[in-house]
Amino acid sequence: MKAYTIKALHENMDALEQQEVTVEGWIRNSRAQKAFGFIDLNDGSKLSGVQIVYEKDTVDNFDAIAKVHIGAALRVNGTLIKTPSMKQPFEIKASTVEIVGPSRADYPIQPKRHSREFLRENAHLRARTNLFTAVFRVRSILTHAIHRFFQERDFMHVASPIITASDAEGAGELFKVTTLDLTEVPKDKDKTVDFRKDFFGKKANLTVSGQLQAEIFAQAFKNVYTFGPTFRAEKSHTATHASEFWMIEPEIAFADLNTDMDLAESMVKYLIDTVLKEASEEIQFFDRFVSKGLVKKLKNVVEKPFVRITHKKAVDILKAAKQDFENTPDYQDDFAKEHEKYLVSHFDAPVFVTDWPKDIKAFYMRLNDDGQTVAAMDLLVPGAGEMIGGSQREERLDVLKQRMEAMGIPEEELWWYLDLRMYGSTPHAGFGLGFDRMLMYVTGVENIRDVIPFPRTPKQCEF
Ligand code: 4AD
Ligand code: MG
Repeated sequence: MKAYTIKALHENMDALEQQEVTVEGWIRNSRAQKAFGFIDLNDGSKLSGVQIVYEKDTVDNFDAIAKVHIGAALRVNGTLIKTPSMKQPFEIKASTVEIVGPSRADYPIQPKRHSREFLRENAHLRARTNLFTAVFRVRSILTHAIHRFFQERDFMHVASPIITASDAEGAGELFKVTTLDLTEVPKDKDKTVDFRKDFFGKKANLTVSGQLQAEIFAQAFKNVYTFGPTFRAEKSHTATHASEFWMIEPEIAFADLNTDMDLAESMVKYLIDTVLKEASEEIQFFDRFVSKGLVKKLKNVVEKPFVRITHKKAVDILKAAKQDFENTPDYQDDFAKEHEKYLVSHFDAPVFVTDWPKDIKAFYMRLNDDGQTVAAMDLLVPGAGEMIGGSQREERLDVLKQRMEAMGIPEEELWWYLDLRMYGSTPHAGFGLGFDRMLMYVTGVENIRDVIPFPRTPKQCEF
């Protein structure tokens, strides 16, 4: 008999009542009495799993099942019985229980509360816990929703390269890609590394952002997006930084910063609305066990307009705050975590901060008429902090060249980027939404390491 997923059993329990069904999964918990026993079985398709009841009189391997360890894989045949008076709406009364893959007494994931750190060290097994079953299900649902959001709006998907020779952010946080023999690196006369001998004949690195390539496609298809992994060799040990993270980067031609923020706001609202509808069991779980009040908070985000204020105005608000900050807010500086926190709780909504001082932002951002600020926006949210970074792009060749020169970015490396400003340049804009931070936001999970299946951070590359 073909096995049902546990999700399918839940969806079809009326039709399957009193019917013989097969399920396959892994034991989350098991309690055996003298003549009968219970097993919580989960196959990952449904957070709440299914309860198996087995009796000495009906199964022929009762003692083996009663002794089977948590974590074992089972195939169960049995009758679906509705149990309206109990916690779970139905259970399976087993006729046969096949132990497909036994487990052992030292299985690390026992039915008790484990610390997040312990579970990270057991990332090969943590997906079999309720928390991670829920997190990774939401991650999958959101992945699909992102494509749907853009495809429904006629945005074209573009696969930006993972290996590239450019530093899209100009911040130098690059992982080198090389096949050079590191014990015998070829050197030039001036003792610098001779990258002409390397695989690509030049320096190459993992991409920090697909933006520059998305800009190329936006100048042909108008509305495009990328969705893929990006890499930053940033030595940040925080709860919101990973060395490998996923970004969604739309790019829109014939558009300014306001259009860009409108798109970002409708996308965030669409994604939250989607998880509320399609992952309600998971979101209820997070509300109960991870972040009290989450459902209310998320509904609030969908309903209320986001705040839009300039960086200057935001610093005014911080300076007027009746609170002492460890870091003094400054008109020329980026925000510290405590500032971001204050701003989002001050407005009780996600906040777009716009028009940033040019010296702390990337070379490609469009210079405002004041000559001091750029048409950039960051979206700040509770918990995840900066969830989106975006900008209108500098479409004027001369201004772009001046900015690159001032910031020490060699023109030769980005000749093609400059070409775009010569052949049909348009005002255009885009943003990058950090997918993993978005997941922190919608699940309430406090650490980015716990929303990424196999997180990569400084000194951490297991699994
Ligand atoms: O602000 P960032 O650096 O902007 C860009 O990369 C632009 N090229 C985006 C664009 O305009 N197309 O990064 C964008 C977002 C951040 O707001 C944050 O959510 C996320 O990417 N991010 C990180 N997420 C996890 N770990 C890190 N180390 C991150 N760095 C950035
Ligand atoms: Mg940023």
